[in-house]
Amino acid sequence: MSNNLLKGKKGIIFGALDDKSIAWKTALKCHEQGAQIVLSNAPVAIRMGEISKLADAVEAPVIGADVTNMDDLKTLFEESQKHFNGGIDFILHSIGMGMNVRKGKHYTEINYEWNQKTLDISAMSLHRVLHTAWELDALNEWGSVVGLSYIAAQRVFPDYNEMADAKALLESVARSFGYHYGVRKKVRVNTISQSPTRTTAGSGVKGFDAFIDYAEKMSPLGNASSDDCANYCVTLFSDLTRFVTMQNLFHDGGFSFTGVSEALVYQMQAAHPQE
Ligand SMILES: NC(=O)c1ccc[n+]([C@@H]2O[C@H](COP(=O)([O-])OP(=O)(O)OC[C@H]3O[C@@H](n4cnc5c(N)ncnc54)[C@H](O)[C@@H]3O)[C@@H](O)[C@H]2O)c1
Repeated sequence: MSNNLLKGKKGIIFGALDDKSIAWKTALKCHEQGAQIVLSNAPVAIRMGEISKLADAVEAPVIGADVTNMDDLKTLFEESQKHFNGGIDFILHSIGMGMNVRKGKHYTEINYEWNQKTLDISAMSLHRVLHTAWELDALNEWGSVVGLSYIAAQRVFPDYNEMADAKALLESVARSFGYHYGVRKKVRVNTISQSPTRTTAGSGVKGFDAFIDYAEKMSPLGNASSDDCANYCVTLFSDLTRFVTMQNLFHDGGFSFTGVSEALVYQMQAAHPQE
């Protein structure tokens, strides 16, 4: 159902790999709500993924960019401005990659070169994107930028490994750049801290199935789906949230503020029937 919340708005969506990706769902919802879109992903992901299917569905060009490469980003923004024949109203940064996680290195023994890459791809890339937009003055007044985070930025989830540090940095960049962009052009920058979600990036975390079940039981509303996350992104890109900025917004069914749930207590009690 469309309320045309994004009618006339133009946005770049990073990170749609396949139909499970949060960015994929968000592109569909933004299109449904009347936005015009440019899709971007790393050239290798474009070759290996299915983004052309999405491009057809949302009538968007696909422009490759490795988010750690400033030339790629400059070209992407310049081409997007040409395509839109003007400025950009919103950006979704839906990008993550844990090199040490991928290679099975324990947090206490990470390889620091890989870790640099992890932090660059997953966190400083938000700075790179914002800096590129800033230099080209590519974002319109009251524009909105959203990155995707996870609660491991605040609390320890041991298997989330170095990605916890990457998310803490990502949230900090959103705050810091959000300040400057707000002052300069009333652009807002926020992160959404999403429930664990079955996607390619999500499933890279060790013990992910148990993780997702635990979060489901700990959240009064249950885990938030990627479709619901996409809806939340739409609200943040719309004019209904113009004064929300520099925030990390939990979209997790209440997980972040629940100490323990009855469902988990019952489960623990079942394991100790004599007590
Ligand atoms: N899935 C979850 O459980 C979950 C929970 C909270 C937050 N998030 C975050 O949501 C975001 C999207 O992830 P997802 O779960 O949709 O998984 P996904 O694997 O579908 O998306 C990750 C994307 O990052 C892209 N990417 C990786 N390296 C890149 C580079 N150098 N340049 C450009 N793009 C690059 C990939 O190609 C891919 O499209 C990530 O930031 C992730 O950490 C995911």
